[in-house]
Amino acid sequence: MALQLGDTAPDFTANSTQGEIEFHAWKGDSWAILFSHPKDFTPVCTTELGTVAQLRDAWDAQGVKVIGLSVDSVDSHKEWEQDIADVMGEPVNFPVLADPDRTVANLYGMIHPKALDTLTVRSVFVITPDNKVALTLTYPAAVGRNFDEILRVVAALKLTAAHPVATPANWQDGDEVIISPKLSDDEAKAKFPEFETVKPYLRTTAQPE
Ligand code: BEZ
Repeated sequence: MALQLGDTAPDFTANSTQGEIEFHAWKGDSWAILFSHPKDFTPVCTTELGTVAQLRDAWDAQGVKVIGLSVDSVDSHKEWEQDIADVMGEPVNFPVLADPDRTVANLYGMIHPKALDTLTVRSVFVITPDNKVALTLTYPAAVGRNFDEILRVVAALKLTAAHPVATPANWQDGDEVIISPKLSDDEAKAKFPEFETVKPYLRTTAQPE
């Protein structure tokens, strides 16, 4: 069965462009993003890995470790990284796993044979400090991901893990948030004295610190 939200992100040991990685040990108690791409030396993937590299400061600010993966070899990844730096103006500054025998891809369900028979699709796993799967995304080969959106959801995941709130559609860091329906009005008042009731089930407040 496919990995579900709340499942423990499987541990593994694999080679990468930064040497052998034991996933849980590498990740430690950080948030992490494990993402796959279909193939080295392909156009959309080149823009994606370069974009992730350009966002280095933003990942660091959120305390997120990022790690890529495809079924290509370490040698292939390393050769391709030169192209990514040329095209995107930023060296790849995170490890990219080599998974030629598809061990990790199969553990995480990154191969969707009806879309791409033997290659990984564009999977994203956001993993919590205690190694739980907090969010998954799956994009097809022809559609590049929006990594600003992935940063946005990490901010939302961290906020909603720390406070009894939820984030509305299109929420951006600093916007109003929704008070968890689990809180009674009295509990909401105690935590968020200025909250507003839009509907009995939709109460809003300023984003907590
Ligand atoms: C791409 O990155 O452009 C790509 C990769 C695999 C299949 C199709 C497109």
